[in-house]
Amino acid sequence: MSFLEKYQNIISQSINNFIPDGEPSELYEPMKYILHLGGKRLRPVILLMAYNLFREDIEKAIKPALGIEFFHNFSLIHDDIMDQAPLRRNKKTVHVKYNENTAILSGDALFVKSFQMLEDLEPSLFKPCFELFSKTALEVCEGQQYDMNFETRKEISFEEYIHMITGKTAVLCACAIKMGAIIAKTDKENSDNLYEFGKYLGIAFQLMDDYLDVFGNERMVGKKHAGDIYENKKTILFFLALKRGDEKQIEKLNYWFSIKDDSDTKVNEVINIFKELEVDKMCLELVDSYTNLAKEYLNKVKVSSEKKQSFFELIDYLLLRES
Ligand code: IPE
Ligand code: IPE
Ligand code: MG
Ligand code: MG
Ligand code: MG
Repeated sequence: MSFLEKYQNIISQSINNFIPDGEPSELYEPMKYILHLGGKRLRPVILLMAYNLFREDIEKAIKPALGIEFFHNFSLIHDDIMDQAPLRRNKKTVHVKYNENTAILSGDALFVKSFQMLEDLEPSLFKPCFELFSKTALEVCEGQQYDMNFETRKEISFEEYIHMITGKTAVLCACAIKMGAIIAKTDKENSDNLYEFGKYLGIAFQLMDDYLDVFGNERMVGKKHAGDIYENKKTILFFLALKRGDEKQIEKLNYWFSIKDDSDTKVNEVINIFKELEVDKMCLELVDSYTNLAKEYLNKVKVSSEKKQSFFELIDYLLLRES
């Protein structure tokens, strides 16, 4: 997909120009390490794409786009400690490669760096972008706390699950897209519709992430297979299985998700139940319906459908994604 690669290349090159660096090296090395591992660069790419809906000269959107990617990478460093994840982008996670304290502190510093990337915005843009970014950052923390709370909660509702993933994942996608729209100085109606578009896209993205954790290929996904099952995460797959399972299956699921067990038995048993209940199919149907909701908001944005084409292509790419 050439347009996506074009944006990804712009981001990768710009990251090289603005890579956090300095002394002590123990603080900056882990930041450089995770940023150079790459990833899809989805959030900065959608920021630039949103900007390009309205204006061509992406130069002034680049640093804010990097800010969003820095924030994302900060959240991954800390998320991997919280989720005890050994692998990210097919490489050791930061806390495994270095150590936990270093990961916490370099994550903190990367968080600060992410906000610094807004400093060059003209005053009329700085304020709305800063407000949006800091509101979003807090919501991500709230979502992450719900995610952890749910590990030990027996029952959660669908609404609670959606609320949790809206916080931990969707609002950052929404923020990225809206920030691109704000920097391009479009009107409030457009930027609000784009926010909703990004939010529903982000929800679909996290549903897909839950799916890939179990049904994706470890090498393609770059994360430990079934990490969510080891960590007793209340993902959409677990939620759907509890809803559809018979008494025996529910009892088994509740048992496995109440203990910590790194054996293959736990993972295999849980995956078998998921397969019996076909929650994989249901999850993909949900991805589809949230994607359609996202498209409805994209359709409301007042620019030519030609301009919006790249976003429609991006949606197709995300739906087919294997990582
Ligand atoms: C991983 O995000 C964390 C989630 C919110 C699911 P990505 O899947 O965008 O990770 P990278 O940046 O491409 O590695
Ligand atoms: C991560 O959600 C969300 C944030 C980092 C804020 P996950 O825990 O599902 O992400 P992965 O699967 O580790 O990438
Ligand atoms: Mg995680
Ligand atoms: Mg997590
Ligand atoms: Mg995940």
